[in-house]
Order: sequence, then C-alpha cells, then structure tokens
Amino acid sequence: MKGILLVGGSGTRLHPMTLAASKQLLPIYDKPMVYYPLSTLMLARIRDILVISTPDDLPQFRRLLGEGSRLGLRFSYAEQPRPEGIAQAFRIGAAWLAGEACALALGDNLIHADHLSSLLRAAGARGQGATVFAYQVRDPERYGVVSFDDAGRAVAIVEKPSDPPSPWAVTGLYFYDRRVGEFARAIRPSARGELEITDLNRLYLEEGSLTVERLGRGCAWLDAGTPDSLLQAATYVQTIQSRTGMLVGCPQEVAFRMGFIGAEDLAREAAALGKTELGLMLAAIAAGRHP
Ligand code: G1P
Repeated sequence: MKGILLVGGSGTRLHPMTLAASKQLLPIYDKPMVYYPLSTLMLARIRDILVISTPDDLPQFRRLLGEGSRLGLRFSYAEQPRPEGIAQAFRIGAAWLAGEACALALGDNLIHADHLSSLLRAAGARGQGATVFAYQVRDPERYGVVSFDDAGRAVAIVEKPSDPPSPWAVTGLYFYDRRVGEFARAIRPSARGELEITDLNRLYLEEGSLTVERLGRGCAWLDAGTPDSLLQAATYVQTIQSRTGMLVGCPQEVAFRMGFIGAEDLAREAAALGKTELGLMLAAIAAGRHP
C-alpha cells in the first residue's frame, strides 16, 4: 500500500504565522507538524509516500524530508497548483499511484493511541473498500461528520454541517482500495469549488464498503489548524514526552521500531540532531538505554 501526505493549503486560519511559512512546517512542540502524520503512515507500514504541497512550499518539504532512504522510506513529490480540495490529491497522484491501494494523511492531524499500529494495519489489510476513523468532539461542525444507526452502522457522512447529526468527526486519515483513482475522477467540485474528501467517502458509504473505526477515549486526535489547537497539540506532546520519556510522532524512532532502519542508522539520525533533547532521546533508544 502507498501513502499520500497532503501538506498544501494556505493556512489562512494561522495568519500571520503562515504568511511566509507552510502551516505543516510550524512546530508542534519539538518537531515540525508534518512529522506527526508521517509517523502515522509509517506505523501502517507504508514506506512509499507522495508528498503533495503548493509550488511555493514543496521545496521546503523536500529539504526537510529528502528522498527518504535515511529512514528506509521513498518520498516522491508533487505540486498542487491551487487548493482545489483534498480529494484532488488522487488526481494529482494518479500516475504515481498506478492503480494501487493508498492511504491519505492530512499534514495537520495528530493521532496518538496505544493500539494505533494494529488499527492501522487492519485498515491497510482490508482488501476492498475504504476505512476512515471517527473521533468524538465538541465542535463537529468544523469537520466531516459521520452518523450511525442504532446498530452502530455508519449511515451518513456530511462536510461541515451547520447542524451536526452526531458528535463524530472524521479524522484526516483515510485508507482506500485500488479503485480510489477511479472514484476521485467521478466526484465533482462542491459549492465552495473543492473536490471534497467527504464526497469521495460517501461513494464508498453508498456502496456499503466504508468501514468507520471509532477512536475511543483512550485515543487523542488533534488538528493544528488554529492558534488554539496548535498550542493544545504542543502542550499535549510536551506533557506526554516529559512525563513518560516516550516520543510522540517521531519518524526516526518509528523507522527504527518498525525495522525500516537499524540501530546504527538511528544513532546517525540522533547525532544529526546534536544535543537537543530529541537527539539525546533518540541516541538513548539507539543505544538500547530506553525501553
Ligand atoms: C478536512 C476535511 C474534513 C475533516 C478534516 C480533518 O477539513 O474536509 O472532512 O474532518 O479535514 O482534519 P479542513 O481541515 O480542510 O477544514
């Protein structure tokens, strides 16, 4: 399975911070934002990843991530000339995708949960259909919202409803079967002129092949699209890391734990970060001094 990391958009809700820098390069505590969704894709064992961003910002992602071999990954890059919707990613990436199954991660989403890698691997292993993840929030009107019948089956999915039918927001992590390119070609721009990811998901729902995994209270899903949510995400990562000594959203660590790279590679990555707290923590993991 391949993966797309979408790091586009103009980040207007974070102006002036995003007037000269991409939103997904802003820090969440000690790492650039894009590290978090990248780590999520890696936990799903996805190693072949297309990074899609604006023509202005793409060179900076290339500078940060490179071609990927240092982490046992392969990055490709593509431009999204204009922000015409999340589902446009599958049109932009059609040739690269070459008819394979694909997961999509939005660059401003952070998911942290104990059993996440098994959930992700189950989603990746599902041959037919699509999988999305839903999370209960207080402000569902800001998101795609999914509602369920009494038996717990998903029955409807709507984008940013003014009167939300449920508190279950659809997170920015999606798994699709090999028909995704075909489905993405079938949808039309919404009233706001965008190819909506919710419209793509609805095609799978109507076909009866959309799995909705509900993330319960043992999970954290944060997006970092506003000053408040950016600060909350940073505080969350700082709290967990300083309390437990375990890293959140660190691709170098995930690459090592997943067996994409060895201890020597991790030690080299740690050394490149110098005497930063993150570098020291990675060095300890590489030396086996951390569980
Ligand atoms: C997008 C999607 C929405 C989803 C959200 C998750 O919204 O359109 O369905 O719930 O990401 O972060 P946006 O962040 O573009 O407003």
